[in-house]
Parts: sequence; C-alpha cells; structure tokens
Amino acid sequence: MADLSVYDRLDFPVSPEGRPWVFINMVATIDGKILSGERDENVMDLGSPTDHATMRFIESQADAVMIGAGSLRATVGLHYPERLKRLVVSASGTLDFSSKFFTGAPDKAWVVTGSRGVEGVAGRAQTFDAGEPVQWRRVLAWLHGLGVERLLIEGGSELNAALLAEDLVDELFLTVAPKVKLGSGIPTYAGGQPLPREGLLRFSLMSCLTHDDEVFLRYRRTARS
Ligand SMILES: NC(=O)c1ccc[n+]([C@@H]2O[C@H](COP(=O)([O-])OP(=O)(O)OC[C@H]3O[C@@H](n4cnc5c(N)ncnc54)[C@H](OP(=O)(O)O)[C@@H]3O)[C@@H](O)[C@H]2O)c1
Repeated sequence: MADLSVYDRLDFPVSPEGRPWVFINMVATIDGKILSGERDENVMDLGSPTDHATMRFIESQADAVMIGAGSLRATVGLHYPERLKRLVVSASGTLDFSSKFFTGAPDKAWVVTGSRGVEGVAGRAQTFDAGEPVQWRRVLAWLHGLGVERLLIEGGSELNAALLAEDLVDELFLTVAPKVKLGSGIPTYAGGQPLPREGLLRFSLMSCLTHDDEVFLRYRRTARS
C-alpha cells in the first residue's frame, strides 16, 4: 500500500490582495538542520516515506512551486506533476536545462532572475526578470496575474530566508525527522541575516501531527500589525 500523507485535507484562506498565499514546506533534523549529506547533495533520505507522501500532498494543494537554484542543482531528477507551475530562483542562471524540472513541462517552468540571468538563460527556458536584488513583491504580483493563488516554497535555506526577511510567508510546514546532524555551518530552515530581537516574526500553531517518530508541524503567521 502506498504511504499516506498525514493530512487528508488542508484549508487555506483566500489569498491576500494582489499576491498568492505563500507557504514553505521543509523537513529538518531535531537539531534543526535541513541536510543529511553535503549542501550540494539531495536530502531524499532525511524524511520518511510518510514525509514524502505528505510533501506530495502539500504540492497537490499548490498552483505553483518555487525553489532556489541550490536545491535544483543538488537534486538531480527533481520533478513535479505536469499540471504544476514551477519556478527556480537564480541570479547566475547557471542551471541544468536538461533536468526534468524544465523538460517535464517547458511551458510551466520559469527562471526567476535578474538581467544577467535573463541574458544567460535566453532561449533555454522562460525567464521572469525580477530585478537585482530580486523584487519579491513584483514576483508575487506577476504570479498572481498568472492565476497562482497558492504558492509553495520548497527551500532551500537561502530562498526561504529571502521571503521571510520581507515578511511574505503566510505559513510554515515543518517535518521534524528523528535524527541529529550537528555542524555549525550546516543550513537550517532559513539562513540569511538575523532579525533583531524586536523584529522576530511570530507564528501560531495550526496543527501538530505525529506519525511513528516524526512530527508534522503547521504554523500560520499571526496577524501583521
Ligand atoms: N530539508 C529540506 O526540506 C530541504 C528542502 C530543499 C532543499 N534542501 C537542501 O538545501 C540545500 C540547498 O539550499 P541552499 O540554501 O544551499 O540553496 P537554495 O536556497 O536552494 O538556493 C540558493 C541559490 O538560489 C538562488 N537564490 C536564492 N535566493 C535568491 C535571491 N534572493 N536572489 C537571487 N538568487 C537567489 C541563488 O542562485 P544562483 O547561485 O544560481 O545565483 C542562490 O545561490 C541542498 O542541499 C538541498 O538538498 C533541503
């Protein structure tokens, strides 16, 4: 029997004015690390088959999924259901355009980049010129215009941090895998620059499910003042 998601349904509010509802999904060890091996390697062995089924279910609730170029480079063979719009954020534009990420649905794949990347990628994939540095509100407005009401972010650490730093993330899904990795330089759920004490982002717990030794957390951003 196929492994089941811990969720059998997920309700989301109507998206905010002019942009999609944005949610991140990640798996991390008990000590907060998002890697099992090296940073340029995939993490398919970090979560259980139930975590993988849950990840697929969360994907099924999204209109589009966005990842960082580091995650795409690290995950050879990464692919998504054909219906799903998929975006990779890359300043350099240095990507493997033969990967299933692009070839699985060329009309639904975009590189979100700046002018340098637009030039480098030209003719190999669709691009969205998001400026340098990336103007995230512009990216979200463009996606909303494409009909994206629910945008799933699947890491890695740097992409998550970029969106969190601008307070553009509405929900966080986190699977805690019953493992310890160690390492002071190992990426966590979000890297980037630290926020000041008075600027921490607050989230409310929506649900906390368990399956075997894993914990599945869902947090929603508390009302912004
Ligand atoms: N545990 C989990 O759930 C999970 C999920 C996803 C990934 N991972 C792991 O995490 C690692 C990758 O994470 P990472 O933090 O190293 O990389 P990442 O966030 O996936 O990608 C970083 C790259 O994305 C581009 N990028 C991200 N934010 C940008 C911004 N604001 N402006 C312009 N470009 C931006 C840049 O690409 P260019 O270098 O092309 O300019 C940057 O080097 C991999 O090992 C992967 O397996 C774990």
